[in-house]
Amino acid sequence: MLITKFLKKDLAIDLGTSNTLIWIKGQGIVVNEPSVLAVRSSSKEGQSVIAVGHEAKSMLGREPQNIVAARPIKKGVIGDFTMTAQMVKALIDTALPKGMFKPQPRIIISVPGDSTQVERRAIREAALSSGSTEVYLIEEPIAAALGAGLPISDAKGSMVINMGGGTTELAVISLGGVVYQAGMRMGGDDFEESIINYIRRQHGLLIGERSAERLKIEAGNALPNEVPFTIEVSGQKFPEGVPRSVTLSSTEIYQALLEPVSQVSDMLKLALEKTPAELAADLAQTGIVMTGGGALLKNLDKLLMAQTGLPIRIADEPLTCVVKGCSMVLENMSKYQSILAEEE
Ligand SMILES: Nc1ncnc2c1ncn2[C@@H]1O[C@H](COP(=O)(O)OP(=O)(O)OP(=O)(O)O)[C@@H](O)[C@H]1O
Ligand SMILES: [Mg+2]
Repeated sequence: MLITKFLKKDLAIDLGTSNTLIWIKGQGIVVNEPSVLAVRSSSKEGQSVIAVGHEAKSMLGREPQNIVAARPIKKGVIGDFTMTAQMVKALIDTALPKGMFKPQPRIIISVPGDSTQVERRAIREAALSSGSTEVYLIEEPIAAALGAGLPISDAKGSMVINMGGGTTELAVISLGGVVYQAGMRMGGDDFEESIINYIRRQHGLLIGERSAERLKIEAGNALPNEVPFTIEVSGQKFPEGVPRSVTLSSTEIYQALLEPVSQVSDMLKLALEKTPAELAADLAQTGIVMTGGGALLKNLDKLLMAQTGLPIRIADEPLTCVVKGCSMVLENMSKYQSILAEEE
C-alpha cells in the first residue's frame, strides 16, 4: 500500500509564461518558481541543466558565453521544446523524492484556451517526457475559474479573466461548459515592454525587463495616481550605452500602461456584448473574478468595474488559482472529467 502510494503521485502543473507551479497530491503546492532554465553547452555532454527557477532567473542577461538562461515558454505555449521538457523535469525532480522507485505520476497540466492542437500536443509531450504515462490537459481559464472558487457547474453564468505574463484569457462558464471564450497573446510581460519603450522614447534610457517589472509593481496603476510620486530607475543612456539613472513620475508609468490596459478593457467589453442576455444578467449578480499575476496591477479591477458597471473582484491568491483548479480536477476526476480539454 505504502509502495503504491509512493509510486503513483498525482501532479497538477501550471506551466506559465512567467511562473510554473506544481501541486502534489497529499502535499499541496510544492513548486512555485519562475519559468526559467539555465543550461551549459559543452561539446562533450551537449546541454546540461545548471539551474532552474529563481536561481536561473537571476542569471538572465548575465550569462557568460557557454551558459544560456532563457524562458522556454513564450506567450503561454512552448517556444523551445527541449528546454521546456528539461525545465519541467528539473522542477518535478525538485519536488519528488529521488530513490530507487521512479514515480510515474498522473499529470494534469493547463494549456491556453486558444492554443492549437500542435501547441497542446507539445505541452502533453513535455509532460510525458518527465516520466509520466497519464497526462490530462485543461484549458487555463477553466482551471482558473475552478481554483478561484466559481460555481462553474451551476446553471448560472460565471466569468473569469485570467491575466498571466504572456496571455490574457476570459471565459464565461455555465453548467461546466464554456459559453464564450476570448484570449489574447498579451499579458503582464507586454506591460513591461510598454514601460521599456516609453522610457527609451521619453528619457533616452534603455532599461532591462527586471527593472521594468519593478516599476510596474511599485508604480504601475490602471487609474491616475491621486497623489503622484517619483521613482528612480537605472539603465543605459541611449545610444551611448553609458550607465545612468533617471527619476520618473508615477504619472508617466500610468501613461506608459494606458495602451495595454485599454486592450484588456476592450476584450472585456466585447465579451459582455457577446454574452447571451440570460447569462449577462447572472454576471450582474455574481460579478467577475480576476486571476493570474496581471490581476494585481493596481486599480485594474476598479477601472474595469467603472467601465462595465459590474462587480469585479480579484481572487484570493490570484497566482495560484490555475494550479489549484487543476488539483481539484485530479481530486475528483469523475466529477470534472467533462471539463478536461479535448484533443483530436
Ligand atoms: N503586484 C503585481 N502588479 C502587477 N503585475 C504583477 C504583480 N505581481 C505579478 N505580476 C505580473 O504577473 C505576471 C505573472 O503572472 P502569472 O504567474 O499568473 O503568469 P503565468 O501564468 O506564468 O503566464 P501565462 O498564464 O500568460 O502563461 C507577470 O507579468 C508579473 O509581472
Ligand atoms: Mg497562467
